[in-house]
Amino acid sequence: MKVILYMASTLNGLIAKKDDDTSWISKKEWDSYSATVQAAGCFIVGRRTYNTLTKQPEFQELKNITLVVVSHQDFKILSPNHHIAHSPKEALEQLKDFKEVIIAGGGALNASFLAENLVDEIYLDIEPIIFGDGIFLFQGADFEKKLKLLGQKEISENEIQLHYQVLK
Ligand SMILES: NC(=O)c1ccc[n+]([C@@H]2O[C@H](COP(=O)([O-])OP(=O)(O)OC[C@H]3O[C@@H](n4cnc5c(N)ncnc54)[C@H](OP(=O)(O)O)[C@@H]3O)[C@@H](O)[C@H]2O)c1
Repeated sequence: MKVILYMASTLNGLIAKKDDDTSWISKKEWDSYSATVQAAGCFIVGRRTYNTLTKQPEFQELKNITLVVVSHQDFKILSPNHHIAHSPKEALEQLKDFKEVIIAGGGALNASFLAENLVDEIYLDIEPIIFGDGIFLFQGADFEKKLKLLGQKEISENEIQLHYQVLK
């Protein structure tokens, strides 16, 4: 199984404003993310991302995709194809029959997966914006990872996608 982290970020490494606003992320970026998740057939998010993402109208596109929410708690999930896992490893175990798994944020969940050395590749879509404070791409865990650049492409005339391998 290949574990791929896919995120949109500001130029300065933030994934949401302090109030969880992600309206600065473009439709082109969403389409690229959505196509990646649909091709994999499954994705994993943290509990806070589950609460914000499932309220967005575009989420309807992904409503039939298998989704695992990582949380220390048990809580009410919204659909029979959504599942709860209590750790990153448990989430991957639940999805072991898929060839690819998409890790889709937020910052706390991303950091947990990286700190446990569970991520093989990263796709990062850089949005043409900087803001001063917000939620970081990786936050709450102390780790260092070296990366190898596998590719780069323009997803629009103002947005670039970087593709990295996480060296283990
Ligand atoms: N730009 C983008 O592409 C993008 C993508 C996704 C999300 N976002 C944004 O990111 C923000 C949310 O990020 P966030 O960092 O605040 O929260 P998050 O990572 O979505 O969720 C954090 C929660 O996930 C659970 N969790 C994380 N690691 C865990 C572990 N190792 N074991 C068990 N549970 C674990 C915990 O839930 P419990 O507290 O329930 O235990 C934790 O409080 C939102 O604003 C969202 O819109 C942006």
